[in-house]
Amino acid sequence: MTDRTCLSVVLAAGEGTRMKSAKPKVLHEIAGLSMVGHVLNAVAEAGGTAAAVVVGPGRDDVAAEARRLVPSATIHVQTERLGTAHAVLHAETELAKGYDDVIVAFGDTPLVAPETFGRLRSAVAAGAAVVALGFEAANPFGYGRLVVEHGRLTRIVEGRDATEDQRRIRLCNGGLMALSGAHALALLKRIGNVNAKGEYYLTDIVELALAEGLSTAIVEAPEEEVRGVNDRIQLAEVEAIAQARLREAAMRSGVSMTAPETVFMSYDTHFEQDVFLEPHVVFGPGVSIDSGVTIRAYSHLAGCHVASGAVIGPFARIRPKSRIGEKVHIGNFVEVNRSVLAAKVEANHLAYLGDTTVGEGTNIGAGTITCNFDGADKHPTVIGKDVFVGSNSTLIAPLTIGDEVLIAAGSTISQNVEDGALAFGRPRQSALPDRGAEKIRANKVKRAERKARGG
Ligand code: UD1
Ligand code: MG
Repeated sequence: MTDRTCLSVVLAAGEGTRMKSAKPKVLHEIAGLSMVGHVLNAVAEAGGTAAAVVVGPGRDDVAAEARRLVPSATIHVQTERLGTAHAVLHAETELAKGYDDVIVAFGDTPLVAPETFGRLRSAVAAGAAVVALGFEAANPFGYGRLVVEHGRLTRIVEGRDATEDQRRIRLCNGGLMALSGAHALALLKRIGNVNAKGEYYLTDIVELALAEGLSTAIVEAPEEEVRGVNDRIQLAEVEAIAQARLREAAMRSGVSMTAPETVFMSYDTHFEQDVFLEPHVVFGPGVSIDSGVTIRAYSHLAGCHVASGAVIGPFARIRPKSRIGEKVHIGNFVEVNRSVLAAKVEANHLAYLGDTTVGEGTNIGAGTITCNFDGADKHPTVIGKDVFVGSNSTLIAPLTIGDEVLIAAGSTISQNVEDGALAFGRPRQSALPDRGAEKIRANKVKRAERKARGG
């Protein structure tokens, strides 16, 4: 946005007891990405130049997730949970570096849009030392209230410290804030803990700033954005909001969906124009779909790229590290895993392609299975172009099949096949004249005799 520098302090030291989980709360996922990941991505998109993440003791897993997304993120361990201001101060070394803007975000509040963080920063750039994120709460219970006098924010009062009158205020504190980097550290250090909970409240920074003659501001956002997650019910509610946003964005960018409410995406699902999605399609992380692709009902895709004009499904599964070429047809009950299919490949029914490369125009018959795993290691299968793999073929990797090869149906192929060959991997058929009819007639007689005996 600007050339101003910005430090984001992400509070993620909450215990998340109500999640009833061995996993820390902020690592629970929304649309295929941890909650803390959503926050880190949003602040980065809002121009955050550095990130400091405050974690609980022993939370190497949260630290690792933060570093996966922002390798330069600094990690600060809050051993005792003494309040939001206490938590922010754990990033003192970073705050002391003198960034222009400081954002304080919560790791369990994953829906705040990058534009909203941007608006908070703009208010700092415009001169406010403290900017609160306000929202009109349908039910203000449990939230801090924003006290506005003569048009300016004078105080944030926590519900349990509020007077009757203050409790009636509907404009609530979203919790997140932006601070002027020039003043943040000095103000934070002066916050005390004389209140109902005996905690160091970040919200006290409003009064302290005003006492210094600094100014405050409020940026408003829809309540939806400041939704925090404390339990798995709220996790599902936030997921639903995230999915609704993703569907809407996809449709706006040119994706058609017969029943959008049945399509589930990941935070990073990418579509070009004129993609058509039938009902009940699920996208795990890392999927990119080019123009003109149709994905038919009940298909599951993750970590793959699908090139233009391909038709996937119904009931197809495309797994990570797969690349599906232009105009490929993948039909029902076909699983593709870590495989690269060139243009116009067809695998229309009941197949498994794992660690496989398939050349252009090749047809994979129904029931073809690549045996890529020997119980210890995975092995590759390379299939050339314009190959016809007959139905019910078993391809035992490692294996290389040349171009224009024809594999007879029902073959088990464990040796490489040269270009142009016709390969059989099955016993030759034999037939005994008349024996079939003799047997069938004898069986008929036996059944009739048994029936006559009353059996
Ligand atoms: C906070 C705000 C309240 C606001 C509400 C919005 C304060 C004092 N109050 O209250 O005005 O309406 O958010 O949801 O800021 N955390 C730590 N270490 C701590 C304490 C908190 O990391 O010592 C983290 C929590 O994990 C959480 C966030 O900071 O992600 C907010 O803490 P929480 O206890 O949920 O604050 P609220 O009481 O909800
Ligand atoms: Mg809270």
